[in-house]
Amino acid sequence: MNIILTGATGTLGSKILFSLFEQKFPSIEKVFLPIRSKNSITPEERILKMLRSEYAPNFIKSNLQQIIDKIQVIDATLLLNPKSFLGDVKINFFIHSAGFVNLSTDIEAKEDIFKENFEFTKDIFKAYSAYIKKFIYISTAFAAGDIGGFLDNDYSTKDKGKYRNHYEASKHASEKYLLQAGKAQNIPIQILRPSVLGGNIKDQPHFFISKYMVFYLFAKFFHNSNSGDLIRISTTETAGLNIIPTDYAAKVIVKAMDREIKQLNIVHSKETNLMAGMSKIFDVVGFDNFSFTNEKINAMTGFKSDLEKFYYETIGIHLNPYLTSKPNQWDTSLLESIMPIPSYDLEEYLIQTVSFAKSKKFRSQQW
Ligand SMILES: NC(=O)c1ccc[n+]([C@@H]2O[C@H](COP(=O)([O-])OP(=O)(O)OC[C@H]3O[C@@H](n4cnc5c(N)ncnc54)[C@H](OP(=O)(O)O)[C@@H]3O)[C@@H](O)[C@H]2O)c1
Repeated sequence: MNIILTGATGTLGSKILFSLFEQKFPSIEKVFLPIRSKNSITPEERILKMLRSEYAPNFIKSNLQQIIDKIQVIDATLLLNPKSFLGDVKINFFIHSAGFVNLSTDIEAKEDIFKENFEFTKDIFKAYSAYIKKFIYISTAFAAGDIGGFLDNDYSTKDKGKYRNHYEASKHASEKYLLQAGKAQNIPIQILRPSVLGGNIKDQPHFFISKYMVFYLFAKFFHNSNSGDLIRISTTETAGLNIIPTDYAAKVIVKAMDREIKQLNIVHSKETNLMAGMSKIFDVVGFDNFSFTNEKINAMTGFKSDLEKFYYETIGIHLNPYLTSKPNQWDTSLLESIMPIPSYDLEEYLIQTVSFAKSKKFRSQQW
């Protein structure tokens, strides 16, 4: 089979690529990877660096040349011109994992976020509809917005518009576009939605993740803070964050791709309680001058310290909607039938994955 995977240098895309070869090596003819150049490193060099990295799984290390032979790196500038590199080749699975994970709530960021997620997805689908047998879209479990309560896998009717940010809105808009366009053109669409990605649970090195986002940014902020100021974190007793290990999410994506599943949340069956989780993060990064409050904190209500002001004017703006979200329960029965969610203690996992990031000084992996 032939596969196109976008976002292969990303946190999730890199693990999807590894899992594709681990699970499906014999049946793969070619994997096409549209990749951007970065800091004068060519697309090919970036992929080779990734495949040769210490973080590649053993299967990749032991079969490196055969795997390289099955990969065709495409300069991403050609992405919307498939004829130029596909000719008449047909694609069995187009996995669209490239995305712009930006949790900004600033109105000025909206256009860019919609361009990178929604317009980009639309352009890709239009460009490839004559070439593909199935389109798999990597969305986010938060695409339905902050609606709280029990969440099943079907987000097509969850249209309350209570998005926490433009990212969620742009991902949900992409989902809805694809479901409609796929139906019109008779191309099966599969929407797979991980929750917040955390470090590996099973793969070596344990707790590795290539880029530190979302809750890692919270940890990094307080790790780097040498201010003695007190900070009040606005949250609620019931708010939780659903975190899923990246290795598990990638394995599920590869297991689900050839099944007749239309929508699937790749989430933990339980949320990590945020007050408990943040307390553990503070322990790991050695910050203890904090308290939790149910009050809203912003420029109107006033700040009690410079650190508080800095937090609420920077990462706090992005994270606050999640720290004050309604709790959710997730229907994981279909997910569990594809691959059981590994069993582990949620708070201990958070401690370990943040400790790993701290040991790497929260520096993301460059390739
Ligand atoms: N991170 C999370 O916690 C999370 C949770 C749930 C769902 N997701 C979804 O999972 C998918 C992958 O996210 P991630 O965490 O792997 O993100 P990431 O680490 O930031 O990686 C994004 C990937 O997309 C590529 N990309 C972005 N814009 C592109 C463009 N215009 N042309 C070509 N390539 C482009 C990036 O290429 P470069 O390397 O060149 O920048 C990179 O390979 C996204 O769709 C995201 O919405 C992420």
